Amino acid sequence: MEHLRLATRPDPRPGPGQVLLRMKAASLNYRDLVVPMRAYGSHTGTLPLIPISDGVGEVVEAGAGVTRAKPGDRVCPLFAQAWISGEPTPERLSRSLGGPVDGTMAEYMVLPEAGVSKVPAHLSDEQAASLPCAALTAWSAIVTHDNLGPGSRVLVQGTGGVALFALQFAKLRGAQVTVISSSDEKIARAKTLGADAAINYRTTPEWYKATREVTAGRGYDHILELGGEKTLPQSLRCIRPGGTLSMIGVLSGGMLSAPLGLVVTRQVRLQGITVGNRDGFEAMLRAIDQHRLQPVTDKVFQFEQLKEAMAHLKNGAHFGKVCIRH
Ligand SMILES: NC(=O)c1ccc[n+]([C@@H]2O[C@H](COP(=O)([O-])OP(=O)(O)OC[C@H]3O[C@@H](n4cnc5c(N)ncnc54)[C@H](OP(=O)(O)O)[C@@H]3O)[C@@H](O)[C@H]2O)c1
Repeated sequence: MEHLRLATRPDPRPGPGQVLLRMKAASLNYRDLVVPMRAYGSHTGTLPLIPISDGVGEVVEAGAGVTRAKPGDRVCPLFAQAWISGEPTPERLSRSLGGPVDGTMAEYMVLPEAGVSKVPAHLSDEQAASLPCAALTAWSAIVTHDNLGPGSRVLVQGTGGVALFALQFAKLRGAQVTVISSSDEKIARAKTLGADAAINYRTTPEWYKATREVTAGRGYDHILELGGEKTLPQSLRCIRPGGTLSMIGVLSGGMLSAPLGLVVTRQVRLQGITVGNRDGFEAMLRAIDQHRLQPVTDKVFQFEQLKEAMAHLKNGAHFGKVCIRH
């Protein structure tokens, strides 16, 4: 965080096929803590870099030939600016915001019209700003790569940004959802969002054993793996044969010592997820609009308080999304 500086740049102007956004809000992801430490590989980009991948803005000017957006529209920039449809490729993954491409912590942004999507009217600016990375990642896991249906059993790890969107989307699909969390207070709040069962992984470190009762010994159809090193070995013990483990995060470490035989004998599908494309994002926006889904905002900071907001995220006391108002 000591590498972050408030700075002034000339106002950007949109060229042909581009839109100028006046940014209204941003939201933080775990990744935003890693990029300023220069610890995110090639995604760190060249300096100086405007941080933070997620946000929402109002179109204030459209360049020549723009048809996807007009002045007055409220839009989210896509997390992966070059990934519109289909499978990921190196080129499609090469232009993520907040590293290597300039991100959303700016008063104005210029983006290609293909790189923005209109957001549902019922969302506050902070809720809309929460969608590009965390929400799409959860949607890609649950809908794009699995198409979970009613009665499916799903396990979600923690109560951070990705986890609560996963809980909300899984409930939209009619799933039975178990949440694991370090806090009984957060567990109580997750239940008000629809969690059917919850286990405190601090007081029950071998939480996979406690899931046997929850799933009547059948195991989960889908587990969203956010912990990585410390959680994957347990997830492999409570996934059902033929189930899917969405490999999303490495909050507890990124190196692996796990009973890999279970992947084979249970025919488990290990599905890596890297956010998602614009087709998925816009399908998700339609579902959020249709169901008037309310993303969970933990706390809103002012633009000048970015470092305080990042410290709040790092501290892990949050429930849902940490946001910035521009
Ligand atoms: N692959 C992708 O495309 C993608 C996209 C977005 C994020 N991610 C990754 O997904 C992870 C979560 O991101 P986020 O932005 O949602 O983070 P976040 O909002 O900071 O969420 C962190 C929460 O995870 C829970 N947690 C931490 N350690 C845990 C553990 N060992 N076991 C279970 N839960 C644990 C805690 O919840 P409690 O306080 O309730 O315990 C913590 O508050 C990160 O590793 C991030 O890099 C990946």
